[in-house]
Amino acid sequence: GAGRPRLTFLGTGYLGATYAICFAEMGYEVLGFDVDEPKIAKLASGEVPFHEPGLDELLRKNLAGGRLRFTTSYDEVAEFGDVHFICVGTPQRADGLAADLSYVEAAVTGLAPKLTRKALIVGKSTVPVGTAEWVEEIIARHAPEQAQVEVAWSPEFLQEGFAVEDVLRPNRVIFGVKSEWAYGMLYGSHKGVFDLAMTEDREVPVVVTDFATAELVKVAANAFLATKISFINAMAEVCEAAGADVTQLARAIGYDPRIGNRFLRAGLGFGGACLPKDIRAFQARAQELGVGEALRFLHEVDLINQRRRQRVVQLAAELLDRPNGPAGPDLSGLRIAVLGATFKPNSDDVRDSPALSVVRKLSRAGASVAVYDPEGMSNAERELPEVGFAKTLTDAVARADLVCVLTEWEEFRNADPATLAELVNGKRVIDGRNCLDQGLWVRAGWDYRGMGRPEPA
Ligand code: UDX
Repeated sequence: GAGRPRLTFLGTGYLGATYAICFAEMGYEVLGFDVDEPKIAKLASGEVPFHEPGLDELLRKNLAGGRLRFTTSYDEVAEFGDVHFICVGTPQRADGLAADLSYVEAAVTGLAPKLTRKALIVGKSTVPVGTAEWVEEIIARHAPEQAQVEVAWSPEFLQEGFAVEDVLRPNRVIFGVKSEWAYGMLYGSHKGVFDLAMTEDREVPVVVTDFATAELVKVAANAFLATKISFINAMAEVCEAAGADVTQLARAIGYDPRIGNRFLRAGLGFGGACLPKDIRAFQARAQELGVGEALRFLHEVDLINQRRRQRVVQLAAELLDRPNGPAGPDLSGLRIAVLGATFKPNSDDVRDSPALSVVRKLSRAGASVAVYDPEGMSNAERELPEVGFAKTLTDAVARADLVCVLTEWEEFRNADPATLAELVNGKRVIDGRNCLDQGLWVRAGWDYRGMGRPEPA
């Protein structure tokens, strides 16, 4: 609408595409940019290149409404936008734990020389603390003087599967700014979020702060979430040794509101494109800052998380009566059905997926593995071309000696263990996410093993 800043989003991956589409939905004029031509062509033709509930519909609606366009031209971005959001990826570097900032650098150096009028460049990508200052320096070197470009930092917290909701109805927004003008522009570019909240009688808390704090908010939040998951998985290890049940333990401690019951599900641990790489990059950055010791516990968090994957292999060997030697068990000649490939349900994302990591370990141990996932099959096949994939749940479990449920899809939770029992070679199941109804499976004759739970009596 009139008076509202025009927004561009650089990098139309998961983050940028979702933001571009949702901000158009809130009434902004939006331009999405990427260097990847096929991706831009797909988006421009109304197709979201990844799986996210509700997003396709909003994309098509806003393309048709004329508020949303896509481009591969920096000139167009510079000409169009008042506020430019940097949404490119910051993956883990190949040579260590640190974040790779080359895409951030490319986006900023691509855009800066084209800018001709006052504009705000806002970082959204997850970055090591200090990046905003570095971006400012790059702009000072590359932007024409008359353009008077300013920088701000505003991290995002969206979860795959809930991304539309998380952008339209965030539980907080963070504005890392250096000037009143930058604050005003950021406020204006989020007015749609505040207006929507007002009509729903909600408030969105705004934290206005400096660059460094804004950058740290994001990695601190993810470090906390990863730690919470590894905490409960560490308790699962103790429960396994002590014959206790971590699901009941989690429920019991979660009633204390200071602890809370969310993000306390023990199982295979965390994966995905964010938590694993973010806690590693955070450690690397703390080292550089001379405070590596402060984050040494995140190394433990990572190790606990990795150990859960090995635990599934160990359970498989136990159930299948194969000795668990120092080199791992020999599972050759055995057929294992793996249900789940994505890092969590309601997503097609297999990046750093704990399920696929277990698949790799099982096939390395000699097992013949058949994987099935409701949404993640094509991504999983690209990642693990040497592994067997099944078209349906029943195809996967047919003649299996062992069934492993590694992602808690509703299709698996609702599967009837009595029906599946007819198809398998051996009624053995590992519930890697503690998502099955244990009693139901045991009554159907299955030898059931959960994570951090005693063997059923
Ligand atoms: C996460 C953060 O939640 C989000 O705020 C941030 O912006 C990006 O990273 P996402 O990667 O989409 O989001 O996944 P999330 O739902 O947080 O799950 C992460 C992983 O933790 C999954 O592999 C999930 O299976 C696992 N998890 C989650 C557990 O193992 N136990 C839990 O209790 C919760």
